[in-house]
Order: sequence, then C-alpha cells, then structure tokens
Amino acid sequence: MPQFNELDLTAAVVRSFDDAPNPRAKFLMTELVKSLHDFVRRTDLSFDEWAYAIDFLTRTGHKCTPTRQEFILLSDVLGVSMLVDAVNHREREGATQTTVLGPFYVGEHKPTPHGTDISGDAGGERMFVQSRVTDLAGKPLAGVPVDVWHADDDGFYDSQKASYETQGPSLRARFITDADGRFFFRTILPCSYPIPTDGPVGEMILQTARHPMRPAHVHFLVNAPGYEPLITHVFIEGDKYLDSDVVFGVKDELVSKIEKRDDPLMPDGKAAAAPWHLMTYDFRLKRGSGVAPQPMMPAGEEA
Ligand code: BEZ
Ligand code: FE
Repeated sequence: MPQFNELDLTAAVVRSFDDAPNPRAKFLMTELVKSLHDFVRRTDLSFDEWAYAIDFLTRTGHKCTPTRQEFILLSDVLGVSMLVDAVNHREREGATQTTVLGPFYVGEHKPTPHGTDISGDAGGERMFVQSRVTDLAGKPLAGVPVDVWHADDDGFYDSQKASYETQGPSLRARFITDADGRFFFRTILPCSYPIPTDGPVGEMILQTARHPMRPAHVHFLVNAPGYEPLITHVFIEGDKYLDSDVVFGVKDELVSKIEKRDDPLMPDGKAAAAPWHLMTYDFRLKRGSGVAPQPMMPAGEEA
C-alpha cells in the first residue's frame, strides 16, 4: 500500500498519466497537476479554503446558460484569456493586434447592408464607423464577413436584456467587405461598462476591491478564408478605464481617436443629425488558418 509525502504525491499523480495515449493531453495534465500541487503547498491551503474554492467553481458552473459563460468571464478577469491570446499571437508581423472575445458573442449576426444603423431604437450619440480589411501588404480583401457587436449607451449588450427574447439582436451585425475591402455602418458611441457582477466572478471582483469596468469599445471578428481569424476590439481614446480594464484587454494600437464632426453629411453622403462621431479603423490580416469561434446561441435557436 503506497503512502505519499507531499512531494511523492505529485510524482505519483504525474506517473498516473504514463499511459495516456495523447502526448499533448499527457503533457497538459502533468503540468496542471504540478502547478495545482505547487499552489496547495505554497499556500498551505486550509480545508475551508479548499471547500470555498469548490463551492465557487460550482456556482460559476451553475451561473452558465446558453448565453452566459461565467467560466469565460472568470478566465477573462484572471488574465488567463489575454495570456492565451498572447502566447498564440507572438509574431504579429504588422497584423492588427488581437484581444479577448468576451462572453457577449452570442445570437444572430445577420448579414447587413453597408451604411445600416445597427442601433435600432437605442439612444446615444451617433457614430459612423468606416473600415477596410487588407492583407499585410495592403491588398484589399473582398467578400470577408466582419461581425461587430457592442454595448448600448447604458453599458448593456442586447443579450443581457429581457427584450432580447422578443426584439432580437441589436448593436450586433455582420458586414461583408466590398471589392475594395471596405465596410461601413452607423451606430451609437459606446460607453464604458461593468462586466456582470451578479455572479461569483463579480463577487470575487468586489471582494478583492477591484473595479468591474471595461473601457468603451466596439468588438470586431474578421474571418477571411486563408487568413488567421482576427478577434479584436477598437477602444475609444480618452476613456478613463483604458489603463485599468478589468480583463486586461487593452493594447495601445487598438485605441482609436474618434473624431467629433458637425458636417451635415456622413461619409456615405447621407444626412447626419449633428453632431456625430467618426471612427476610422483598418484591419490587417495575417495569412494562416484557424476556425473562428461561433456565437453562442440562445436555447432553441440555430446559427
Ligand atoms: C466584453 O467586452 O464584452 C467582455 C469581455 C470580457 C469580459 C466581459 C465582457
Ligand atoms: Fe465588450
């Protein structure tokens, strides 16, 4: 009957994976066990703390629904999502920087004509967004689907509101780039907003005296065949949370100066109710492969 001291135990668990048929799975399980055991030894974890952690993770799972992913939120606020992003995007070669997907890539991203106002009846300051998708040499990429989504003027995504069930998507859409790689649309200027704090992740943020805010941004997922899927945001310059994003997702290159305009016409020649804002941001894609994530669908809906 084997008996283990603190260190033998780690070696024994690692050995238990000796016959794992998948070498990568074996490596990942070995490193996970070593890191977890180190954590327990370094912290002298008490029974109460262990039980708290089990309860916390259980509640995190229970908070998940078809449109709410509390585990991704946990990964985000612990910086794990941005670390996975960093180790997988070490060589950008001039390609646009990436950041977290976030938990609100949900529901329908309907192909939408350029110029459409995606804000529906949402209040807020008007904004025109214009963009171009190119390769690293500046060649326009045509016919590329670009999914966009952002929060409303009160800091909520459509899927967080009860009206989502009856009114469907708002402030989210899919645009297909034209022959010159361009797409453009109307919307409202997003504002900074708190991540959901009504679950265990929010509880942890508040108990550790962190703030729950994300700086204002628009999400983009650019998915061109033959190129790395680009998951990113464009942040609004001047936002007071740019230096303390709760999910550590800000990169200098993704912060965009938004121009305040009074012109009576927007760049597509159509009338503007002044004043309005102009966001101009181009995306450069790197050759590669990869499968872009699919939006989480509410129960009963199909992608
Ligand atoms: C978001 O930007 O939508 C987001 C990202 C990570 C955590 C929470 C929200
Ligand atoms: Fe967001």
